[in-house]
Amino acid sequence: MNTNLMDSFSFILPTRIEYGIGSVAGLAQELREMNVTRPLIVTDPGIVKSGLLGKITALLEQEGFTYVVFDAVEPNPKDYNAENAAKAAAEGKTDGIIAVGGGSPIDAAKCASALISYGGSVKDYMGKNKVPGPVQPFIVIPTTAGTGSEVTFSSVITDSEKSFKMSMRSVHIAPKVALLDPQLTVTLPPGITASTGIDALTHAIEAYSATVSEPVADACALYAIELIAGSIREAYFNGTDIKARSAMLMGSMLAGIAFSHSDVASVHCMAEALGGIYDAPHGVCNSIILPHVMEYSLDHAAARYARVARAMGSMERDERKAAEEAVGMVKQMVADLKLPSLKQIGVKEADFEKLAEMSEANLSTGSNPRPMGKAEYLEVFKKAF
Ligand SMILES: [Fe+2]
Repeated sequence: MNTNLMDSFSFILPTRIEYGIGSVAGLAQELREMNVTRPLIVTDPGIVKSGLLGKITALLEQEGFTYVVFDAVEPNPKDYNAENAAKAAAEGKTDGIIAVGGGSPIDAAKCASALISYGGSVKDYMGKNKVPGPVQPFIVIPTTAGTGSEVTFSSVITDSEKSFKMSMRSVHIAPKVALLDPQLTVTLPPGITASTGIDALTHAIEAYSATVSEPVADACALYAIELIAGSIREAYFNGTDIKARSAMLMGSMLAGIAFSHSDVASVHCMAEALGGIYDAPHGVCNSIILPHVMEYSLDHAAARYARVARAMGSMERDERKAAEEAVGMVKQMVADLKLPSLKQIGVKEADFEKLAEMSEANLSTGSNPRPMGKAEYLEVFKKAF
């Protein structure tokens, strides 16, 4: 076993986690404790259509709160989504923020929280530590088990002019409270259950094998892998299985803690490039790329991948064989969940050069256990195609 126990590290989690079936019922009390009287709710059209938003607003109305809804967040959230949410907050004179949904509304709300609290434009806050101080009271209610964004300090926003994913990292945009209620995830359709679930698995595997891994993140990552590998098929084939849904929500949250204290790596570099150009679902991109990057990185991450395999249930004692088994298990999982291919999501070979360049430019490229430059990214894109 290779360890990083001798390394020094610092660990902060600014978000209080309220996890459990029915935990969303505590929303009004949380708002009162933060002195919020009129929150802005940031969400997307899917959440409105599913009836989940209605459940949240009913809770607020019962307790006498007024609120403003901004429900126009798009998948792979765009800079103008965050700017329009901030406009809605200013016009509606709101005094707090609630994000309801998957990673897109949560990331848009994180970005909007800086604009609401300090003004300016999205680009002013991109990069590391550009938010000057605390933002308005901020609560998140995730409705997918994937992004982990409810506990991370970052927001990924698409530059709509350049079709490029930018990232904003600041401890100030971490939500104050995350209400994690597995009951809210039971209506998630199988395809989204699969893609968001693989996103969470990718967070955990990349965090655990990253060059910058640290011990608390490692602990969270390994348990996340065990929970996700042990429940993703149940959640996919039998969505109302609340035990599987609970394990997935716990797993995705732990994976979020893991990668925000370690990092993601080349799978995300490639998936974010694909998301930027094709507006393709983030989890689907990860599911296509993950086995190929693991195969490429195997020689440099065998000890770590062997533990990934064990967390996924392997009994193999030989390190090399177990590491290979981890790759095989991930491949099998992606196949079982019937996720689409690169061709099916409209990716064109002619774009590989540009995609490889964008992957190389990603902030997380240096965290991959085996170094990757443009040429290596190009090779992996070709293999995955
Ligand atoms: Fe991700």
